[in-house]
Amino acid sequence: MKVNYLHHNLDKKAFIFPKNEKVLICQEIFNQVCVLANGDVVCSCRDYNGMYIVGNIYQNRIYKIFHNEKYTQLRDIVLNSNYSCYCSQVKGNCVFKKRSSKSIQNELKELTIKKIQLETISNCNLNCPICEVSNWKRNKSSRLAKLSFETIKELIYDVKNSLTYLSLFNYGEPFLDDRLLDILRYIKEVVPRAYVYIHTNGNFIPDNWKQRIIEEHLIDEISFSIDGASQQTYEKYRVGGQFERAFNNMADLVNIKNKLGISKHIGNYLKDIVYRKNRLWKFKPYIIWQYILFEWNDSPEEIAKAQKLAKDLGIDIVWIITHSNGKSKRFNENTEEYHKLWGIKNYSSEVISNQIERKIVNKS
Ligand SMILES: C[S@@+](CC[C@H](N)C(=O)[O-])C[C@H]1O[C@@H](n2cnc3c(N)ncnc32)[C@H](O)[C@@H]1O
Ligand code: SF4
Repeated sequence: MKVNYLHHNLDKKAFIFPKNEKVLICQEIFNQVCVLANGDVVCSCRDYNGMYIVGNIYQNRIYKIFHNEKYTQLRDIVLNSNYSCYCSQVKGNCVFKKRSSKSIQNELKELTIKKIQLETISNCNLNCPICEVSNWKRNKSSRLAKLSFETIKELIYDVKNSLTYLSLFNYGEPFLDDRLLDILRYIKEVVPRAYVYIHTNGNFIPDNWKQRIIEEHLIDEISFSIDGASQQTYEKYRVGGQFERAFNNMADLVNIKNKLGISKHIGNYLKDIVYRKNRLWKFKPYIIWQYILFEWNDSPEEIAKAQKLAKDLGIDIVWIITHSNGKSKRFNENTEEYHKLWGIKNYSSEVISNQIERKIVNKS
C-alpha cells in the first residue's frame, strides 16, 4: 500500500507500508524527535547512545532534520523490516514497535513533529546501577552535556504550530538544569497547548521553585521515580539517593496544590490517562509516584507501606515492571498479583497500553 505524505512545505514522498498486518511498526518516526543534550537528534529515548543519529540541532533546524534523507531512510528501513520488536537501527528490541501499519495509516494525516523528547541536560546526581548515565559518568563520556538555551528556544519556536506533547526529560536528571523554570516558561508562552511531562528522581528540587511550578502551571504531569517505601529498599537501586528527600519533595508539591485549592481529587491513574491525553485534566500538575518493582522492594509489607503513604498523600502509584537485573519475580505482566496491584480484574497483560485506554474510554 502506498501513502503520500506532504513534506513540510512542498515536496512529496511516498512511503510504502507493509501489507502484512502482523508486522508491527513504530509510530514515533512519523511524528516525533528526541533531542539529546549534545544536540544529536534520534528517533526516541530508545536510542540513548545515538546509534542512529538523524542530525544535530546545532547544525540544522529541526524541520530540516525531520525531513532529511537520513530520517527518511530510517522510516523506509523500519517499514521494510520483517521484525515486530527488533529494530536494526538501534540493534535491539524497541517497545515503540507496537502499531499495525493499518492503524498508523488511519491516524497519520501528515508527517509533522507533534512530540518531542527533550533532554536539556544528561548529567545526574544519582548512580542507578543499570542506567546508562551512571556508565557515562564512570567513563567521562561526551554524552554528558547541556543543551544551549538559545538552541532550545529555536527548537520550540520551530515546532510551535504542530507540537502537542513535550517530554522534558530523557536520560539524566531534569531538575539539575538551573534554567529549568525559564525553559518551562518559554514553552508555556510559545506553545501553551503542549502537554509538558517530566520524570524526576526527586532528590533535588529547589524550594523556591515549587510554588512557581504550581502557581504558573508550568508542568502538566510530573512523575517521581521512588522505587521503595523506605531508605533501605530505595537505595538499592537509587544509589546515592535519599528516600525521605524524594518523598518530601513530592509531598511539598502536593501540599502546595492542596493549599491553592487546585486538587481535592484522588486520582485513578488508568482512568485519568484518557483525560490527560485529551487535555481535559484540570488538576495540574498531575503528580504521580512511579515505583519500579524489584525483588528487594516487592514484599507485601513494603508494597502496603507504599500504598498507605500514597493514599495518605492523595496520589496514585504507577507500578512498573522492569526487565533489568533484580527485577521482581513476584510481579510480571502476566501475573494476577500484578493486576491486583493495579486494582483491576480481568484484563490483558499490557496494562498501560492503547488497548486498555480504549477499553477505559468505552466504559466511561
Ligand atoms: C533515565 S530516567 C531519567 C529521569 C530521572 N532521572 C528519573 O530517574 O526519573 C527516565 C525513566 O527511566 C526509568 N528507569 C530507570 N531505571 C530503570 C530500570 N532499570 N527499569 C525501568 N525503568 C527505569 C526511571 O524511573 C524514569 O522513569
Ligand atoms: S536517577 Fe534517573 S537518570 Fe539518574 S541514574 Fe537514576 S535512572 Fe538514571
